[in-house]
Amino acid sequence: MLEVSDLRLAFGGVRAVDGLTFQVGANEIVSVIGPNGAGKTSAFNCVTGFYRPTGGRITLNGTDITGRRPSLIAARGLSRTFQNLRVFGDLSVLDNVRAGTHLWLRQRVFDVLLHTPRYRRSEQEATDEAHKWLDFVGLRGDRAGLVRNLPYGEQRRVEIARALARRPSLLLLDEPAAGLNHSEKAELLGLIQRIRDLGIAIALIEHDMGLVMEVSDRIVVLDYGKEIADGTPAEVRDNPAVIEAYLGREAGPEETEEVRGARTD
Ligand SMILES: Nc1ncnc2c1ncn2[C@@H]1O[C@H](COP(=O)(O)OP(=O)(O)OP(=O)(O)O)[C@@H](O)[C@H]1O
Ligand SMILES: [Mg+2]
Repeated sequence: MLEVSDLRLAFGGVRAVDGLTFQVGANEIVSVIGPNGAGKTSAFNCVTGFYRPTGGRITLNGTDITGRRPSLIAARGLSRTFQNLRVFGDLSVLDNVRAGTHLWLRQRVFDVLLHTPRYRRSEQEATDEAHKWLDFVGLRGDRAGLVRNLPYGEQRRVEIARALARRPSLLLLDEPAAGLNHSEKAELLGLIQRIRDLGIAIALIEHDMGLVMEVSDRIVVLDYGKEIADGTPAEVRDNPAVIEAYLGREAGPEETEEVRGARTD
């Protein structure tokens, strides 16, 4: 579904992404992990068209999307959420999610201006679809209220619902667990699995190792822009280069054990 090969991105002298290669197959959950500043978000920004890569190639469902515009890439089935939550705070919960449907909802100017029955039907379709996704992400409560009045964890769900309303084949989540409490993280884990069960592939950036180890089919590890490991959760957890990247050069065996057990922050 998604193939990233030898992706490179430089900001002046900083090589934010330095030769990243990974794939996400249909129905797979692939996580991209690595220390702060490793280049994870930069890589996602290349994949989604927000940054133009300095090198490498990205294909989505067989089509080369390298350097294409975000709108085109979204139309080809890729949807995302952001590390720094992006919702329309001054719109209602419902309208935030309805906004996602405009990617596929065909509305003609004529119908919109004249409020024809066809226009009203398509608006109803958008509303029904938005309710469906809000149900799916488990957002109960008032959907007519402004998003900014919701608790943070619920705003995160609205963002995911909006991404799903675009009907993607691949969903990129950038640190969806950040700022969530323990029970919200557990719900997020279930939500990610249910999204995959719909047949949507997922690429996940996440620092919460408990979540990553539980949910991922495969994990790609970045350090200073370079890919240092790619494998199953068990392979990655036991990979000395990964342990070193997280703990620094002096890491001894005891600390290694500790990080395995304790990294659930
Ligand atoms: N717009 C930018 N301009 C210049 N440098 C940037 C820009 N965005 C990111 N960088 C640099 O690129 C490197 C990778 O940053 P990136 O945000 O991709 O890391 P990350 O792995 O997502 O980190 P975190 O876990 O903290 O979110 C860092 O050195 C960062 O300072
Ligand atoms: Mg990031």
